Amino acid sequence: MMAKLWRCEICGDPYIGESPPDNCPFCGAHRRYIKEARDAKVNFDVQLAEKDKANAQRALQVEVSNAAFYFCAAEKTDDHEGKLLFKALGKVEAEHASVWKKILKLDSVPKGDDTCFTDHKGNLQESHRRETNAINFYRTAAGESENERVKQIFESFVEVETDHLKLSEERLR
Ligand SMILES: [Fe+2]
Ligand SMILES: [Fe+2]
Repeated sequence: MMAKLWRCEICGDPYIGESPPDNCPFCGAHRRYIKEARDAKVNFDVQLAEKDKANAQRALQVEVSNAAFYFCAAEKTDDHEGKLLFKALGKVEAEHASVWKKILKLDSVPKGDDTCFTDHKGNLQESHRRETNAINFYRTAAGESENERVKQIFESFVEVETDHLKLSEERLR
């Protein structure tokens, strides 16, 4: 088998491997958005309608805030596996923030200052609350958008945040 170059159509990042990953290692997008790099259609130059712009700005804030929370939890949570989980989640949310940054044509991603708990269960519950809010907002935003690209990003992030929700649910059982 030969290594190939793949590209995620949601975040635009490239990946080298024999076969495409089930989820984008950067933004978590599902398999159907990962194409051979030469065939991938990636566009961040979108004319934003008023509503889409407002939703993209709010989404950027949500992602920045959630990334800051997860990186805090990765440091402070009192559970070894939990630290790894929160680090992985923080990286994905930071990538989501970067997608909105590109859509909004900003120079940089604002820095979040969210704090977290030291007890692992508290962080899992907080993760569950944050992912639930993100899913509900993204679902609404996808429904409100008439732009195919904006809709595509919101819909794919609903799937990714739902994967995140399941990770906390499994651990809270
Ligand atoms: Fe991606
Ligand atoms: Fe996210």
